[in-house]
Amino acid sequence: MSTIMILFIIPFTLASLFPYFEGQTLSSPFANKGQWNLMQASIGISPMHMQLLHNDKVIMFDRTDFGHSYLPLSNGRCRMDPFDTALKLDCSAHSVLYDIPTNAFRPLMIQTDTWCSSGSVLPNGTLIQTGGYNDGERNIRMFTPCFDETCDWIEFPSLLSQRRWYATNQILPDARVIVIGGRRQFNYEFLPKTPNPKNSPSSSIPLNFLQQTTDRSENNLYPFVHLLPDGNLFIFANTKSVLFDYKQNSVIKHFPPIPGEDPRNYPSSGSSVLLPLDENLGAPEAEVVVCGGAPRGSFESAARGGFMKALGTCGRIKVTDPNPSWVMENMPMPRAMGDMLLLPNGDVVIVNGVGEGTAGWEHGRDPVLTPVIFRPSQMVNRFSVMAAASRARLYHSSAVLLKDGRVLVGGSNPHVFYNFTGVEYPTDFSLEAFSPPYLAPDFDPVRPTIRYITNNNVLGYRVFCYVTFTVANYGSASDVSIRIVAPSFTTHSFGQNQRMVVLKLSGVTYLAGQAYYATVVGPSTAEIAPPGYYLLFVVHKGVPSSGSWVQVM
Ligand SMILES: *[C@@H]1O[C@H](CO)[C@@H](O)[C@H](O)[C@H]1NC(C)=O
Ligand SMILES: *[C@@H]1O[C@H](CO)[C@@H](O)[C@H](O)[C@H]1NC(C)=O
Repeated sequence: MSTIMILFIIPFTLASLFPYFEGQTLSSPFANKGQWNLMQASIGISPMHMQLLHNDKVIMFDRTDFGHSYLPLSNGRCRMDPFDTALKLDCSAHSVLYDIPTNAFRPLMIQTDTWCSSGSVLPNGTLIQTGGYNDGERNIRMFTPCFDETCDWIEFPSLLSQRRWYATNQILPDARVIVIGGRRQFNYEFLPKTPNPKNSPSSSIPLNFLQQTTDRSENNLYPFVHLLPDGNLFIFANTKSVLFDYKQNSVIKHFPPIPGEDPRNYPSSGSSVLLPLDENLGAPEAEVVVCGGAPRGSFESAARGGFMKALGTCGRIKVTDPNPSWVMENMPMPRAMGDMLLLPNGDVVIVNGVGEGTAGWEHGRDPVLTPVIFRPSQMVNRFSVMAAASRARLYHSSAVLLKDGRVLVGGSNPHVFYNFTGVEYPTDFSLEAFSPPYLAPDFDPVRPTIRYITNNNVLGYRVFCYVTFTVANYGSASDVSIRIVAPSFTTHSFGQNQRMVVLKLSGVTYLAGQAYYATVVGPSTAEIAPPGYYLLFVVHKGVPSSGSWVQVM
């Protein structure tokens, strides 16, 4: 302990430089409605997929099969693809790397079509992207973040055993990725590939649940998948959900269908999150929330020009209960294609989407401009309506949480091609950031700042870790929580691999000046927190610090 204490000393001198806010009254946490800022008027593509990487860059990509984008590839490069359905020779980029600190972006090169694909970040920080459409449907692509301008996509053709178009991925405790479903794919497979004893070209394993939940408009695509603390997967498709043991290929439990019989997955696109797993509760309880979507028949109706009202309900279910049931509640307004993101303080923001219609070309109407914040632990008034964005984000929009607690929002292209005029909802190439209410300067006196994390920001399983932070107006240890967030691979209104773990807090100790250190314990198992990069936040009185990257291993 004493050597650790010495390491602590250096950053503390900084603490005294921080202003002390005396006698300032805090407004209630939700008196303000957050704030929108336009970050980029145009990045030249419409990012239907987004992932935050551990070098604070967001990788974004679109599709290749609609012609050129509005961002040229660098250094005179071009994509030659005899199989592309639009351009065989294409000198424009369909992927972008956006640097958060400098608000700059550069083009990246994708070879084949990544339309409606899936992804996961491996424990070493490399993004593995799977599938897409046409010539890209069985390819995987890797992107390893770098701290200069040299890194780009590397493509591996035909590595998937099946076409994966509208599939969902989940990183597993053993560091493999499971790729589940896809259009007319009632099966799953793992990456990286393990040697197949039968040496058969197909190493996919059937998943009948996906067949059972398909319907006329295939309302079970992009299933909601959450890794649970017991190591099984929660899979939600259409209206039904199961506890699935992927090791034995067996459904362990069928949960009750979500009340109302209305589909929640693509194209009826609601969204879902696994609520924070709290290690202070002993064995963590796992609770899943599913919000929004579209009524049955909405897709067919939209195809005929009739736009049905989206679903206004959220269901939550404590899947670790012996006999769990859904508890339903109403959102402030109906929404399909909303993105649900876990915020650092454990609240959930629901952003983007429409009030009428569904996902699919030209199928959405009545964009919902106001995000809502859902506070799951609150007894009453769980929803707050936030400030309205100035831009409509319909089909093919996305959102990710950033290290500083803002939410980056981009995309929207409900058309087969890019269309900027002559359409009701023009293709949107802009990026905006939504700052939730906790970022208001009112909260600066109680906002913690992370100064130091022991062991070079490596968080070992069941290993003590000391997080030093400064805060002007400290309350007590009961006001403090330390949380880690796995950033989502967001596409089509679902954040794949998104999860939050509240670390076991042993105590908070006063150091000097405005400095304190929290003693926490690393995640108890890889089922609770699979290995990899997470953002660690100190939350004090509901106000989060800016995040620090930690590696769980
Ligand atoms: C991470 O692992 C993958 C798969 O083994 C590998 O291809 C990639 O290069 C690794 N990335 C780093 C940063 O080492
Ligand atoms: C949308 O863009 C495509 C390709 O440029 C064009 O063919 C189509 O006519 C446009 N649609 C509208 C409604 O402008």
